[in-house]
Amino acid sequence: MSQFEYAPALESTAIVNIAERYNLFIDGKFVTPKSGKYFPTINPANEKVLAKVAEANSTDVDTAVQAARGAYSKVWSKMPAAERGKYLFRIARILQERAREFAVLETLDNGKPIRESRDTDIPLAAAHFFYHAGWADKLQYAGVGDQPKPYGVVGQIIPWNFPMLMLAWKVAPALATGNTVVLKPAETTSLTALLFAEVCQQAELPAGVVNIVTGAGATGADIVNHPGIDKIAFTGSTEVGKLIASSIAGTKKGATLELGGKAANIIFDDAAIDEAVEGIVNGIFFNQGHVCCAGSRLLVQENIHDEVLEKLKVRMAHIRLGNPLDKNTDIGAINSAAQLAKIKELVTAGGAEGAEQWSAPCDLPGEGFWFAPTIFTGVSQTHRIAREEIFGPVLSVLTFRTPQEAIEKANNTPYGLSAGVWSEKGSKVLWSASRLRAGVIWANTFNKFDPASPFGGYKESGWGREGGRHGLAAYLKASN
Ligand code: NAI
Ligand code: MG
Repeated sequence: MSQFEYAPALESTAIVNIAERYNLFIDGKFVTPKSGKYFPTINPANEKVLAKVAEANSTDVDTAVQAARGAYSKVWSKMPAAERGKYLFRIARILQERAREFAVLETLDNGKPIRESRDTDIPLAAAHFFYHAGWADKLQYAGVGDQPKPYGVVGQIIPWNFPMLMLAWKVAPALATGNTVVLKPAETTSLTALLFAEVCQQAELPAGVVNIVTGAGATGADIVNHPGIDKIAFTGSTEVGKLIASSIAGTKKGATLELGGKAANIIFDDAAIDEAVEGIVNGIFFNQGHVCCAGSRLLVQENIHDEVLEKLKVRMAHIRLGNPLDKNTDIGAINSAAQLAKIKELVTAGGAEGAEQWSAPCDLPGEGFWFAPTIFTGVSQTHRIAREEIFGPVLSVLTFRTPQEAIEKANNTPYGLSAGVWSEKGSKVLWSASRLRAGVIWANTFNKFDPASPFGGYKESGWGREGGRHGLAAYLKASN
């Protein structure tokens, strides 16, 4: 037997109470959409409908923007900064108290393993509120002058890969800096944002400070194009990021865009190989590879290629794919049929272009959307799987001989969000880091996140930074 048997360890769903239908959260209340329309959200692990969610049209978006404007000018911008901070602390504490409820709901709606929603997404979401709560009355130290001013009403559009965490990344700094918010979650993962609306009520956050409108791309575009929006904060595909940039060109709207990535994870021959293998696995298979900063291009020094690949395959054969609610699960469901189709298309292209595919042996459940952890060897820089974001559990392996060649290959991408470097020599790590054109560089680790650390990209990976002091500056204007 090559693998330990694991008894199922299912997390109970009794803690969540999912309504049949969800309305829009505007001006502190849940209101029926003027559009009259609702769309289903499913559990991608079994394709069952969890609930129906309101689809906001332009009238609904306008109502939400007006509510945010009213709350901004009458309440939020007039409130002493320390008072604003108290609301953020309160929200952070409620998120901790209700963490299990959020984690289970996130796993049901998104398909990610409960281990990740429980240990990463929700604790980090609370941490973002705690961190920014502390900043609310210290904004003169944010690096934007003595009396920085908020933008006003911020439109925020988030993706489906880290629904609640991306909400926290957006809402916490916006509120700490005195802005009010109209936020749209992704259409496949609205439920934790709607539970967050309940948290806003529970925290007695003044009505209209946070408004949550659900819907798909058209609702997002209505937010972007609304004249009452002062700034857009977007995380998602580079394609939509470009659309947003062109829509707001020539207006006074500010923007931060956090877009795609194709990160290099560089393994030098002096690295601790077993640890590097763990880092490779975490870098690409965490969250089914639905991670903008995923280490999706492995650059391994040629003389250790065979050893690394052999160990990687042994490790991958022990990854457990299956029911996301099982606490033993490492890889959950792919978030949607559309995303699964995109992964399959790129994997087919990888084979057609001459790379060699190896997938970990594992049984895929009969229902739902699944993809086995996969690596491609013999990848060249021109292959689509080396250039395009796959956003799934698929790793492209390339080799290099010299450090210079590693850097050249790592930087040979339109993206520049993150990178990893594995070496026992600090000098080599620093030499590499200073030459890599990426916003975040991890040394002998991967996918580490902290609210105090700025995150963001070079080139087509986006504009601006989120988190830390730099992230605050993105929500503030200098007063003169
Ligand atoms: P997307 O960029 O279409 O969706 C992200 C968000 O933008 C969602 O809330 C969506 O409703 C909204 N949106 C869509 N069209 C819009 C528009 N015209 N104006 C305003 N908002 C709009 O991403 P999608 O289609 O879900 O995924 C496609 C690919 O994008 C993925 O395969 C992946 O490669 C990449 N992606 C990258 C993410 C990242 O974190 N960097 C997150 C999600 C997707
Ligand atoms: Mg869903």
